[in-house]
Amino acid sequence: MNPAHPEGLSGIKRKLRTLLSARRYAHSLSTARLATELAPAVGVGCQRAYLAGLLHDCARDLDHCRMKKLLNRYSGRYLDAGIRAEPKLWHNPVGAYLAFHKFGVKDPGVLRAIARHSIGGPGMHPLDKLIYVADYCEELRTHAAAERVRVLAFKDLDAAVSAVARAKLNYLKRRGLAAHPDSLALAREYGISRLYVNSRF
Ligand SMILES: [Fe+2]
Ligand SMILES: [Fe+2]
Repeated sequence: MNPAHPEGLSGIKRKLRTLLSARRYAHSLSTARLATELAPAVGVGCQRAYLAGLLHDCARDLDHCRMKKLLNRYSGRYLDAGIRAEPKLWHNPVGAYLAFHKFGVKDPGVLRAIARHSIGGPGMHPLDKLIYVADYCEELRTHAAAERVRVLAFKDLDAAVSAVARAKLNYLKRRGLAAHPDSLALAREYGISRLYVNSRF
């Protein structure tokens, strides 16, 4: 699965378990499972989908100091002022950093899917979409829209991306929080207007 890691997938899981709470680890497994189930229909290899799903939140439970330190080491393209300003978003690029440096993942598509998983953005690749959607609606998610989006994802992944983008913008709007410019660009790409943002999908 991951030749760069001496112990392969079981080594990755063992290491991941030391970084995450039990709940987050279960969410990661569930995201990986759903992404893998959705992958064949959009031409993505199951192993890549599983790996990206498994590691997407690998930085999520790091303490603030460590996260900040690693954020400053990240030199990829998915870090900007909008992400720096919102600590909840830091685990996107830091996750990609850890996947590369700690888990030995060299596949740029897997690293990109991790770096964009909660924000999304314009021009997402199929693997990015899988992780963006699976993270939102995997089976352990208990929010009201999870099951509906999951069913939709098996029929039409782009329709599910659109539903997730809308739901996330609504969430931010209800709380008076600003969306990241990439999330707004994704919404524009999917034709989500301000009117739709106000509606239930
Ligand atoms: Fe996340
Ligand atoms: Fe997640």
